[in-house]
Amino acid sequence: MKNTNDSQEWRLLNQHYSEICNQHMRAWFAEDTNRFARFSVQCGDMLLDYSRNRILPQTITLLGQLAHHMQLPQKIESLFTGKAINTTEKRSVLHTALRDQRHTSIIINGENTANLIELARHKMRFLVNAIHTQQWRGVTNQPIAHIINIGIGGSHTGPKMSVHALKPFAITNLTFHFISSIDQTALEDVLQQINPERALFIISSKSFTTLETITNANTILAWMKARLGQHVLQHHFIAITRAIEKAIAWGLPPENILPLWDWVGGRYSIWSPIGLPLMLMIGDKQFADFLQGAYEMDEHFRYTDFEKNMPVLLALISIWYINFFNTSAQAIVPYAHALSYLIPYLQQAEMESNGKRTTLNGDEISHTTSPIVFGEEGCNGQHTYHQLLHQSTYFVPADFILIAQTASTSHHHQDILLASALSQAEALMQGKTYEEAYSELKINYPHHEANYLACHQVIPGNRPCNILLMEHLTPKNLGALLALYEHKIFVQGVIWDINSFDQWGVELGKQLLPILLKQIQQDASPSKLNSSTTALINYIKKIRGRT
Ligand code: F6P
Repeated sequence: MKNTNDSQEWRLLNQHYSEICNQHMRAWFAEDTNRFARFSVQCGDMLLDYSRNRILPQTITLLGQLAHHMQLPQKIESLFTGKAINTTEKRSVLHTALRDQRHTSIIINGENTANLIELARHKMRFLVNAIHTQQWRGVTNQPIAHIINIGIGGSHTGPKMSVHALKPFAITNLTFHFISSIDQTALEDVLQQINPERALFIISSKSFTTLETITNANTILAWMKARLGQHVLQHHFIAITRAIEKAIAWGLPPENILPLWDWVGGRYSIWSPIGLPLMLMIGDKQFADFLQGAYEMDEHFRYTDFEKNMPVLLALISIWYINFFNTSAQAIVPYAHALSYLIPYLQQAEMESNGKRTTLNGDEISHTTSPIVFGEEGCNGQHTYHQLLHQSTYFVPADFILIAQTASTSHHHQDILLASALSQAEALMQGKTYEEAYSELKINYPHHEANYLACHQVIPGNRPCNILLMEHLTPKNLGALLALYEHKIFVQGVIWDINSFDQWGVELGKQLLPILLKQIQQDASPSKLNSSTTALINYIKKIRGRT
C-alpha cells in the first residue's frame, strides 16, 4: 500500500482544509444552532461534545472516506479476532479479549485465550480473597496492610492511575504504593511508609528483565531479608510476568506468580493480572464493572458507524489537526484530581504506540504521526500553560475530561471546576477581538492606552477542544474511558499505516545502558565513547573522588 498521504482521499482533505482553514468556529456556531446536536455522541454514561472543532459535516465525511481507504473496518476485525497485527513481533494484540464478556475462544499458539484469561482471573480472585480475609499472612503471621507495586511503563502507569482514580470505591483498608523509578530516594520514600511485616510487594514485569524493576526488586528483597530473615519471598512477594521461569529462578514459588501473555502489550495490560492492585483495592465485583465498561466501549467501537463512533471520531479529528493543520501537540486536561495520573498513562499509550516513522511495509513516513501528549489536571493547567493554548503561535487541540457529579454532598467545588472547564472551552473557541478588548478598556483608559492594551489582549480563538463528560467516575466509566483512548490510538495507527504495538525506539537506550553503567562503575577511564560522554563520565568520577 502507498503512503496514506499519496491517496486521493488525502488530497481531497487537503483541498477541504484550504477551503475552511480561515473560517471561524464563532461564525459556525452563530449560523448553525444545531451544531451541538450534530457534533455530539453518547456511549453509555459518556458524552462526547466535539462541536468545538474546526470541522463541518463534510470534514467528517472526508475523514471517514480516508478511514475506509485505509481499510479500517477490516483492521478492526483483525484486532478483535486475534490476527497477528503486531507484525514486527509477530504477535496478536488481544487486550480486548481480557474484557470480552462473551469469552470468545481465540486460539493463539494452540492455546485458548479465553481459558487462559479465566484461569488467571481465578488466581487473581483467590489471592485477593486470601489477602482480604487475612488468610495470607506475612512471615511473622501479621496480616497484609500495604501493597507495593514494583514496575515501570505499562506495568506501573495503569495500576497507579486506576488505584488513584478509584480510591472512593476501596473496600479495604490496604494502603497502595508504587515504585517505578530506579532513583533510590523514590524507593526509600515508600519503604519509610510501610511496616515490612505487613507488606506485600507485587513485581510487575512482563519480561522480568527490565533493569529498573529487577534492581528495585533485588534491593527490596535484601531490605526485607535483613529485617525478617531468609523466608520472606513466599509471604511477601508476588510476580506478574510472562517469563514465569525467570520469576521462579528469582526464588518465587509458582503459586505466587500470575501470568501475562505475548498477546497483551505492556501499555494495554491494566485489564490483565497487572490490574491486581486495582482488584485488591476495589474487589472482584467492581473490577468486573471496570472490565464491563471497557467491553461496552469495545462493542460500540466494533459495531457503530464511523460518524457516530466515539473512538473513531476522536482519532479522525486528531488526524485532521496533526496532518492538515500541522499541529504536533495534544493537551489532555482532566478536570478531576482523581484522573491526574491519566496524563502519564495516555502519554505512554499514545506516544509509545504511535511515535513511529515507518509504515507496515517498512517505508519511511513523510507525514507527522503521534502528537506530543501533555497536560495537567484542571484548574492547575489554567494557571500554568493554558496561556500558550490561548495566545501563542502554536495550535494545540485539547481534550477536556469532566465529571458531572461527585460523591460529595456539597457541589460547590465541583460547580467551580465544571464552570472553569466550560469557560476555558468557550475562551478557546470564542477568543476576543480587538474591538471587544478596546470597548472594555476604553471605559477606564484614554484612547492611546486602551489601544495599546487591546493589541495585547486580542485572543484569536478558533482553538479546538473536545469535551468528554461522564456522569460519575465509576469503575465502569473509567474502563470505558481507557478503552476509548486505546481505540482512538489504534485507529490513528491504522490510518498512518504503522504498527502501534511495538516500541523499538525504547530498545536502543536499553542496549546502551549496561555499557555506560560499566563505564561509570569501573575505575578505568571510559573508552570508545564520544567526547561528550567521556567528559561527563570523567566529571562524575572526579566529583565522586574516584579518579
Ligand atoms: O518502555 C518500554 C517497555 O517495554 C514498555 O513497553 C513496558 O510497559 C515497560 O517497558 C516495562 O516492561 P516490563 O513489563 O517487561 O518490565
